[in-house]
Amino acid sequence: MKTPKRIQPLIEEGLVDEVMRQLMSGKEATVYVVRCGEEIRCAKVYKEASQRSFRQAASYQEGRKVKNSRQARAMEKGTNYGRKMQEEAWQNAEVDALYRLAAAGVRVPKPYICFEGVLLMDLVTDESGNAAPRLNDVELSEQQALNYHAQLVRQVVLMLCAGVIHGDLSEFNILVDGDGPVIIDLPQAIDAASNTEAAVLLERDVNNLASYFSQYAPQLKHTQYGKEIWLLYTAGLLSPDSQLTGRVAADKRPANVAASNEAGTRPRAAHRAGR
Ligand SMILES: Nc1ncnc2c1ncn2[C@@H]1O[C@H](COP(=O)(O)OP(=O)(O)O)[C@@H](O)[C@H]1O
Ligand SMILES: [Mg+2]
Repeated sequence: MKTPKRIQPLIEEGLVDEVMRQLMSGKEATVYVVRCGEEIRCAKVYKEASQRSFRQAASYQEGRKVKNSRQARAMEKGTNYGRKMQEEAWQNAEVDALYRLAAAGVRVPKPYICFEGVLLMDLVTDESGNAAPRLNDVELSEQQALNYHAQLVRQVVLMLCAGVIHGDLSEFNILVDGDGPVIIDLPQAIDAASNTEAAVLLERDVNNLASYFSQYAPQLKHTQYGKEIWLLYTAGLLSPDSQLTGRVAADKRPANVAASNEAGTRPRAAHRAGR
């Protein structure tokens, strides 16, 4: 197809050889299938700030690190320079999160670069090499729903162990490839340690999963994985292979906080778990 204007700079830099087709145009971005040498990849073109919706809200921005205090002051004042910096911070947030998460073993598309407001990453594909469907577009059996739910809860744990909360996790931001769910769409990703809304946003992400999958597996409906994961995290006990039950004890402690204390292996920061 004719090269869209926003992708032209990547062609000039030799990052992209050809734009094959438009995949999707959403509220925040337009996504293209592109060819880079022999590889088929995906180019996500962010819309201008004025055309985007909710995700620059204060709760997502909080705790974001900027390079220096001059930038921070400019961003607060909303000068032209400040707005440009803010735009850049927003665009780089997704590629940064993808690198962090890929390194932590989370199933996300492999990122390459964010250049001039265009994120270049691997195209997630189904078994026949076509762009993978969104979770929302896949019909599931009860067993598959339980399986995907468990995989995704584990992905959320891996993300939190890497200090990241998705912040907009839903059946529309999860793709399904031959090996299961892949998480996408992270420009609003949240820094778990510094954002005061972190607990709420984590629980909302995890509850979205439970409520979506409960249409196929109703037993998931009232699970409390989000609360349980957050309690373990704040107690300093969360690890990539933490055992989870989906239930939180009435005294608000997850079962294995109590169990590991009683076993005499006093965990780091266990006092915060309510002892
Ligand atoms: N790496 C990718 N591989 C395959 N499809 C993708 C990829 N990234 C995005 N898409 C497709 O593009 C759509 C929009 O991308 P997304 O990152 O969710 O942006 P937004 O929702 O902000 O517009 C997704 O729902 C998905 O169908
Ligand atoms: Mg999306």
